[in-house]
Amino acid sequence: MKGVILAGGKGTRLFPLTKTTNKHLLPIYNKQMIFYPINTLKKAGIKDILIVSGRHHAGHFLELLGRGEELGLNFSYTIQEEEGGIAQALALAEDFADNDNIMVILGDNIYEDNFKEHVESFKGGARVFLKKVPDPQRFGVAELKDGKIINIEEKPRFPKSDYAVTGLYFYDPEVFKIIKTLKPSQRNELEIGDVDNRYILNGKMDARFLNGFWTDAGTFESLHQASRFIRKKHMEKKRMI
Ligand code: G1P
Repeated sequence: MKGVILAGGKGTRLFPLTKTTNKHLLPIYNKQMIFYPINTLKKAGIKDILIVSGRHHAGHFLELLGRGEELGLNFSYTIQEEEGGIAQALALAEDFADNDNIMVILGDNIYEDNFKEHVESFKGGARVFLKKVPDPQRFGVAELKDGKIINIEEKPRFPKSDYAVTGLYFYDPEVFKIIKTLKPSQRNELEIGDVDNRYILNGKMDARFLNGFWTDAGTFESLHQASRFIRKKHMEKKRMI
């Protein structure tokens, strides 16, 4: 399995912080944000990782991460030229994936869970990870029936559950065929939720519930929460030594 980190976008919810740098290069406690999704992939046993970013700060990612050998990883890079949504960014990973399954993570998602067993058990279709949140309107929201996912709605005004679809996805190579058939949403983006809904319709979606802490870091509040969580982890580790 290969890994893809989606680190594009303008980060408008974090203006003016993101006026001069990419959101994923902002600090979360003691490291740039991008290191956390990298570590999530690494802990899952994934070594080949594609980083998709926008054109403006692509050089900064290269400068920070290089080829990845210091981390025991192998990085590739590509550029999303337009602001066409998460699914459009993912489409750029087709050649890199080369018919392998992929684990995709949004560059601003911070996970405590370890996904190693999922990498080992994933055989095909798609898998998403849900987390109960107090503010589901901010996310893709899962509609559940008898514990099974039956639909995903992107940022609904009236959410059908409290379960956010978090920013980590497993896909088989079918994903690239699905993206090619998508139509832009009302906000003119190719939505990752539409990709997932297609897998649901085809009966090939497996939704799991996260155990550990999760947050995105795309707003001032969530960025702060992410820093607090990482700081707490850091302090716990120091105390153990
Ligand atoms: C994206 C996805 C959304 C998901 C969220 C997780 O939203 O579109 O479905 O729940 O990431 O962080 P964004 O935060 O990019 O608007």
